[in-house]
Amino acid sequence: MAFPIQRMRRLRASEALRSLVRETRLVPTQFILPLFACPGEGVRREISSMPGNCQLSIDELVKECAEAAKLGIGGVILFGIPAVKDELASGAYADDGIVQQAVRAVKREVPKLLLMTDVCNCEYTSHGHCGLVVDGEVKNDPSLEWLAKGAVSHARAGADVVAPSDMMDGRVAAIRAALDASGFPDTPILSYAAKFASVFYGPFREAAESTPQFGDRRSYQMDPANGREAMREIELDLEEGADMIMVKPAMPYLDVIRQARDRFEVPLGAYQVSGEFSMLVAAIQKGWLDRDRAILESLTSIRRAGADFILTYFAKDAARLLA
Ligand code: PBG
Repeated sequence: MAFPIQRMRRLRASEALRSLVRETRLVPTQFILPLFACPGEGVRREISSMPGNCQLSIDELVKECAEAAKLGIGGVILFGIPAVKDELASGAYADDGIVQQAVRAVKREVPKLLLMTDVCNCEYTSHGHCGLVVDGEVKNDPSLEWLAKGAVSHARAGADVVAPSDMMDGRVAAIRAALDASGFPDTPILSYAAKFASVFYGPFREAAESTPQFGDRRSYQMDPANGREAMREIELDLEEGADMIMVKPAMPYLDVIRQARDRFEVPLGAYQVSGEFSMLVAAIQKGWLDRDRAILESLTSIRRAGADFILTYFAKDAARLLA
């Protein structure tokens, strides 16, 4: 039974019909807004490669969080730009570190907003790598200790979810054990389980001032060519105790999101990363793409591929568009 009995266009005839049969929906609670905390007061320093995004001092970041909460966004994830960086990533796990202070302030002023923290060392090391460097090599096991201490310090400050993004082996187990031993057995871990060594993190590294000073991240982040390996990374993180998993970047890796969705019965996030954001904004600024439609279509694609929630720099715009 085909044409002319079947006419696919019948159900596309009006917005009412299209809305009835729409398979994928966007809701503001599915968006997580990444924010960058920096020292100072009254600071809103725009990141030139990410128009509309700023390094924010804590007072300004709190305002941003209040706005996010008002828009009904699912939550925020915090990154930190410390005043000083060193070989040992001290700022990553200091109780008075920039993110730890920001968490306390946000929890005090906007208590209901879901507050996630990115757990990594690269913003805090002088060399920009995600762990301890010995003889030009990023060491795995010693870096776990920093990550575990970092996650505990975030939980102690009041973070609702900790999200390790470093790609060291065994970090989820190390963080779970440290959280449990420190009185935080109920703090969930969102693991950046399948994180690829991607060119699309470029603008973020300007934002976080975390460009590696030598080499690259290919000895710890995944080869963009490997989909099967991504499934193994996710499986291992779940065995180690991850409560939620993430695929990152999102748009160039929709197949990985789909495979993960089909395979694992846990909440799945995807990160529409800085380069994806900036690429769209550049085309929008040139007048080559319509802003509103580009935002909604890109987010819809990521949800259709299977992501339950999306970390996106468009979170506020999308929430406004959906209001
Ligand atoms: C930290 C981290 C990065 C991103 C999130 N966490 C940078 C990197 O791995 O180099 C990238 C986010 C983005 O590009 O928006 N390791």
